[in-house]
Amino acid sequence: MKKQLTINYEEYAAQKELPAADRALLNDAIDALKGSYAPYSRFNVGAAVRLADGTVVKGANQENAAFPSGLCAERTAMFAASAQHPGVPFEAIAVVCAREGQLMANPGSPCGACRQVMAQYEREAGKPLHIILGSGATIYTLDGVESLMPFVFNDL
Ligand code: THU
Repeated sequence: MKKQLTINYEEYAAQKELPAADRALLNDAIDALKGSYAPYSRFNVGAAVRLADGTVVKGANQENAAFPSGLCAERTAMFAASAQHPGVPFEAIAVVCAREGQLMANPGSPCGACRQVMAQYEREAGKPLHIILGSGATIYTLDGVESLMPFVFNDL
């Protein structure tokens, strides 16, 4: 039997159209770009995680001469949030990408490994993670990692 999956997301044409809380978290992700260490790709990614108690933890991509040793912005932010605020549920994450000081025109889209990590913290939180994929123009928002990563591994 053929089956079909549908994903739901919202598209905004500009940052000013976002609900205030999303705009604030996106601005935190933009601010996090300052912490990007990307001497190899020169591609900067900023992320900001908002926890259920309102705390925001920022992260940025970190590269290394031993290439696999680097880490994406999203996981840098999520692991820092979990390490510094253990057990506090994740509510939302915003991501944004830039090159040479210019925000990209298309929404930043997390890699598979970051999606897997999001899925696990979402499961811990017990409610859908709000995801903001930002840019200098178009922004997507999604409610739940399922829309980014169907059939996620969760057999623990
Ligand atoms: N990168 C992220 O920070 N997040 C992603 O979801 C994908 C890629 C980083 C890794 C590397 O430092 C640079 O972007 C280029 O791949």
